[in-house]
Amino acid sequence: MLNSVELRKKYLDFFKSKGHTVIPSASLIPENDPTVLFTTAGMQPLVPYLLGQKHPGGKRLTDVQKCVRTGDIDSVGDDTHCTFFEMLGNWSLGDYFKRESIAWSYEFLTEVLGIDKKTLAVTVFEGDDDCPRDEEAAALWREAGIPEDRIFYLNKEHNWWIAGAAGPCGEDTEIFIVDESKPGKTPADDGGRFVEIWNNVFMHYFKHPDGTLTELDQKNVDTGMGLERTLMTLNGYGSVYDTDVLRPVAEYIRSLTAEKGAEAERAVRIITDHTRTATFILGDPRGVAPSNVDRGYILRRLIRRAVRYARTLGLDASILKECAEKFIGIYGGFYTELEDNREKILSELELETQKFDRTLQQGLKEFEKLLGYIKDNRISGKAAFKLYDTYGFPPEMTVELAAEHGVTVDMDGFTRAFNEHQQKSKAGSEQKFKGGLADSGEETTKLHTATHLLMEALRRVLKDPGIMQKGSNITPERLRLDFNFPRPLSAEEVKAVEVAVNEAIAAGVDVTCEEMTPDEAHASGAVGVFGDRYGDIVKVYTMGSYSKEICGGPHVKNTAELGKFKIVKEQSSSAGVRRIKAVLEKA
Ligand code: ALA
Repeated sequence: MLNSVELRKKYLDFFKSKGHTVIPSASLIPENDPTVLFTTAGMQPLVPYLLGQKHPGGKRLTDVQKCVRTGDIDSVGDDTHCTFFEMLGNWSLGDYFKRESIAWSYEFLTEVLGIDKKTLAVTVFEGDDDCPRDEEAAALWREAGIPEDRIFYLNKEHNWWIAGAAGPCGEDTEIFIVDESKPGKTPADDGGRFVEIWNNVFMHYFKHPDGTLTELDQKNVDTGMGLERTLMTLNGYGSVYDTDVLRPVAEYIRSLTAEKGAEAERAVRIITDHTRTATFILGDPRGVAPSNVDRGYILRRLIRRAVRYARTLGLDASILKECAEKFIGIYGGFYTELEDNREKILSELELETQKFDRTLQQGLKEFEKLLGYIKDNRISGKAAFKLYDTYGFPPEMTVELAAEHGVTVDMDGFTRAFNEHQQKSKAGSEQKFKGGLADSGEETTKLHTATHLLMEALRRVLKDPGIMQKGSNITPERLRLDFNFPRPLSAEEVKAVEVAVNEAIAAGVDVTCEEMTPDEAHASGAVGVFGDRYGDIVKVYTMGSYSKEICGGPHVKNTAELGKFKIVKEQSSSAGVRRIKAVLEKA
């Protein structure tokens, strides 16, 4: 039997012995890539280096990367799909290519892990107009000892890898363990006979947004091996929930519920999986809290879905916190950030689960009532919106509940109801804001602009691009800003933030405003509530290179109008949230 600690170590040690530098897992929240919500593969944080930038660790790297993929969320509950997983990876940045990559994968699997070579199968790219058939990889596998009938040529759908629509990419070769007891002829079949454990991508192309491919200046190798699946296969387990990273939590939940059978087991697995993902998102050094937009919204959906499944097992929402504590224990030795952020993980989970627990029961009653009078087996958009707005049901949850009762949801109608509501509340808040400004316009406008500069100065000085505004209150006399940060700022840091804001003021940059869709704002790198899937047009305010944020305004025309910025207080606001009060003095 091999456990997770041993597998991580064996993998990293092996590639270290082959000249690779071991690098730490990057954050789950991509630092320089606004186009993805979470890190979904080990290569993602390495894209600049795959494209030619020099990595301080050299040309051979290896790591264990935390990944979140929510695309398969509906499959969670089966034996192998998880929304969080660990990817063991090794990279050649323009160094070795197919020969070493294949030889070392084979050596690691058969010699280090002791896998019987008779149980291995591989796939290689069959070739198309873009890229030739990968006879080279096939020959290398034959040379290694894989018999002809265990080498399969498959098309782009299977043996080509790219993260998203554009970027570095190439043909790949995948390695499978064959389970003779299961049906299926080739790894393209679903029968369960071929379980994929490793993917070696030969990344030597770049796909441009217009779809064209060009050769990269360097030939790279990018590999990924799923830790949980590999443990499952190696140990002959029936599912990933039997591995040492998941079993203690799944068993704990099972021990508390009287519910039995396939549906109950599915619920156990969903709670286990979603709580683990939530623990890692909350516990990440750049972690986010539950909210109604982008990453925070995914986190909220996971937590609320887990709470609903806990209910189906007759369990209280507090089970999530208990599971999170277990995960911190299981993973804290390797991912020390979980221990560091223990308080934050547990308090945010408690807050979110309690909030939702209060409305879930009533919402479910409302849902039952709805079933009584819907027409055409369809829940109207308005009704789905009420479940969202009043009871906190993410629309995806309503769709799922509806499906369980054989009915559908008018999602277009939901989006319309959502947009109408947004318009109304936006009009309302603009009204209020205008009202506030009527008697004190100039000063509050200046302080509002200063708030943007302050936000960016905090991100830069504290070297944490994940810092976000958690609250703001502006009077004619002062600004008050709440932002996520785990500890008090030192006196030096407060000073440095002040200096940074005053520099931006002294630079006298114009404040410009553009209107665009949230997607465009997102792509332009603006900070703020992008990812709001239901909004229409947002305003993006830019202050030279100092700040770019989505915001309703208003702002001054030039930062030089602000005078001298001074922080008067830095204090705690709530768990993981700091509060700054600051003023503008005449320069
Ligand atoms: N980037 C490759 C994958 O995620 C290794 O499968």
